[in-house]
Amino acid sequence: MSAERNPRKRVVSGMRSTGKLHLGNFVGALRNWVGMQQQYECFFFVADWHALTTDYADTSQLKQNSIDVLLDWLAAGLDPERSTLFLQSHVPQHAELHLLFSMITPLGWLERVPTYKEQRDNIAGKDLGTYGFLGYPVLQAADILIYKGDFVPVGEDQVPHVELTREIARRFNQFYSLDCASTSENASRSGTSFVFPEPQPLLTPAAKLPGTDGRKMSKSYGNTILLTDSEVLVRQKLKTMVTDPKRVRRTDPGNPDVCPVGDLHKIFSDQETNAKVDTGCRTAGIGCIECKSWAADALVVVLRPIQERRKKYEDNPRLAWDILETGSDRARRVASATMDEVRQAMKMSPAFEGPTGAQGAK
Ligand code: TRP
Ligand code: SF4
Repeated sequence: MSAERNPRKRVVSGMRSTGKLHLGNFVGALRNWVGMQQQYECFFFVADWHALTTDYADTSQLKQNSIDVLLDWLAAGLDPERSTLFLQSHVPQHAELHLLFSMITPLGWLERVPTYKEQRDNIAGKDLGTYGFLGYPVLQAADILIYKGDFVPVGEDQVPHVELTREIARRFNQFYSLDCASTSENASRSGTSFVFPEPQPLLTPAAKLPGTDGRKMSKSYGNTILLTDSEVLVRQKLKTMVTDPKRVRRTDPGNPDVCPVGDLHKIFSDQETNAKVDTGCRTAGIGCIECKSWAADALVVVLRPIQERRKKYEDNPRLAWDILETGSDRARRVASATMDEVRQAMKMSPAFEGPTGAQGAK
C-alpha cells in the first residue's frame, strides 16, 4: 500500500548534519519531533546537502556528522518504525526538484530572505558568495514539497524559508498543473489538480535554552551541553555557568528570572525545586553552587535515558546505518511518485503521449 494513503497529516522537517546535538537542539526541535510521531506521518531527514552550503571546503567530517545526528535522534526517541528517517543526499529526487524550482524562482525572492545577506556577510573565514548558498531555501522548498508536507516544524528563524516554500509552490501551480484525467492518487491528497499543497510552518514553542555563557546555546559559541556529555562533564560545565551578575557574594540576593541557571530550572526541574530556587535565590538562602547542582541533577535525569538508548546504536553502528537506508528507500518511493507528477505537469513526461496515450483518453 502506498504511503500516500495514510490519512494522518504529513510533517516534514530536516536538520543540518552538524554533528553531535546539544540540549538546545533537543528542547528547540527534537523533543517536539518525538512528540509529533503519535499524531502525524513524519518524514525527518539529515540535511547533509544543506550542511555543504556553508561547509563545502572540507567534507571529511560530513558522513560522521550525519551519523552522529541520526544517533542522537534515535537516542532521543525518534522511532524508525513510526517515522521515515533518512539522509537527504540518498534521495536524489530532491536535487532534481531543486533544479526545476531554480528555473522559476526569481532572484529577488532569494536575495530578500533575511538570513541570506546577514549570514553571507557575517560568517567569518568562509566565502558564502556561492550559487548553492543563495539557493539554500530553494533546496529547502524541494525538501518539503517533494513529500507534499502539510506541516513543517521549525524554529522562528526558519519561518521565512517556509514562506518562500509556499510562494514557490504557488508559482509552480500557476505555471503547471495536472490534467484532471491524469490526476493520480498522490495528487488528490490536495483534492485539486495542483501538484503541490502549501505547507504551514508549525512553530516550535520557543524555549530559548541558554548556554553556559548565558548566550543562546549554539555550537558556534562553544557554550553547549551535548546530549552525549557524561554526568561528570555536565556537572563541571554547570559549575562554570554564568549566574545573575548581581549576585556577587553568597549573601547577595539574586533573581532566577535573569539567571541562565534559573532558565535551566524552569525548563528541566520540577515545581518543587523551582519554588526552592526562587525563594532561596531571592533571599540568599541558597548558594549558587547548590542551586547549580540541582540543575545538574535535573539534566542528568533527562540525559540518562537518552544516553542509554544511544549506547545500543553506538555499539552497533551498522544498525543505525541500516535505519537510514531503509528510511531513504521509503522516502525515494514517495519522492519519485511526486517527480512523476512534476514531469507530467511540466510536459516532460518520458512516456509517449500520442493520440492513443493516457493524455488522449478523456
Ligand atoms: N534549514 C533548516 C535549518 O537550518 C534545515 C532544513 C533543511 C529544513 N531542509 C529543511 C527544515 C526542510 C525543515 C524542512 O534548521
Ligand atoms: Fe542563579 Fe541559582 Fe545563583 Fe540564583 S541561586 S543566581 S538562580 S545560580
